[in-house]
Amino acid sequence: MICLSNINKYYHQGKNAYHVLKNIDLVVRAGEFVAIMGQSGSGKSTLINIIGFLDDHFDGDYTFEKKNIAQMSRQDCAHYRNRNVGFVFQNFKLMNNLTVKENIAIPLLYAGQSFSQTEVKIEQALNQVGLHGYQNQYPLNLSGGQQQRVSIARALINKPKFLIADEPTGALDSQTSKEIISLFTQLNLKSSMTIIMVTHDLAVAQKSQRIIRIMDGTIASDQETGYESRLINTNGT
Ligand SMILES: Nc1ncnc2c1ncn2[C@@H]1O[C@H](COP(=O)(O)OP(=O)(O)OP(=O)(O)O)[C@@H](O)[C@H]1O
Ligand SMILES: [Mg+2]
Repeated sequence: MICLSNINKYYHQGKNAYHVLKNIDLVVRAGEFVAIMGQSGSGKSTLINIIGFLDDHFDGDYTFEKKNIAQMSRQDCAHYRNRNVGFVFQNFKLMNNLTVKENIAIPLLYAGQSFSQTEVKIEQALNQVGLHGYQNQYPLNLSGGQQQRVSIARALINKPKFLIADEPTGALDSQTSKEIISLFTQLNLKSSMTIIMVTHDLAVAQKSQRIIRIMDGTIASDQETGYESRLINTNGT
């Protein structure tokens, strides 16, 4: 589904060019749950921003479902992003002056749907993340874990082809982190959602199917974690 071939990325600061991603080759198949690890500054966010169509300033080829992203216009890219990818961030990025329902509706409104068309979808998304009945709450009245669930519901609402999560448990305590990762595992196993997640936490990464380690802008290793053990963990055994 996602195919990066010889990706190089530079940040230009004045006369200097900083080489942040170096010759990245990466294939992510539909239905995979991938964790990306690496030291701060190694290029993880830069990489997933490219994968999530947020950044089209790079050298090399990115093909998504056989379509070449580098050749798309800015507008097509934005449209593609809205239809294909859901984002989850460390700090949730919810609008605190809007209700849970309104926050989740934002991507639907961008996609051109009226508010009345969105009610059922919002209810389904909230059920999917275990927040039935929270429609009219405000984010600041919810716990960190609940806020992250709202942001996951918002990411899922347009039925994206894949989810990108940048440190989704970075602001959460260890018990809440476990609950959020277990939600990702469920989405991956039951709804076949493709997930690409950056994390600093090895315990979190080990709940994925595959761990990619980035070092100084290159892929240092790419290993399966063992799918069978993941299934057993999900059953709580
Ligand atoms: N917009 C930018 N302009 C210039 N340099 C940047 C920009 N964004 C990131 N960088 C630099 O590129 C490098 C990689 O940044 P990136 O955010 O991808 O790292 P990261 O692996 O996600 O780190 P962290 O774990 O701290 O989030 C860093 O050295 C950073 O300072
Ligand atoms: Mg980062």
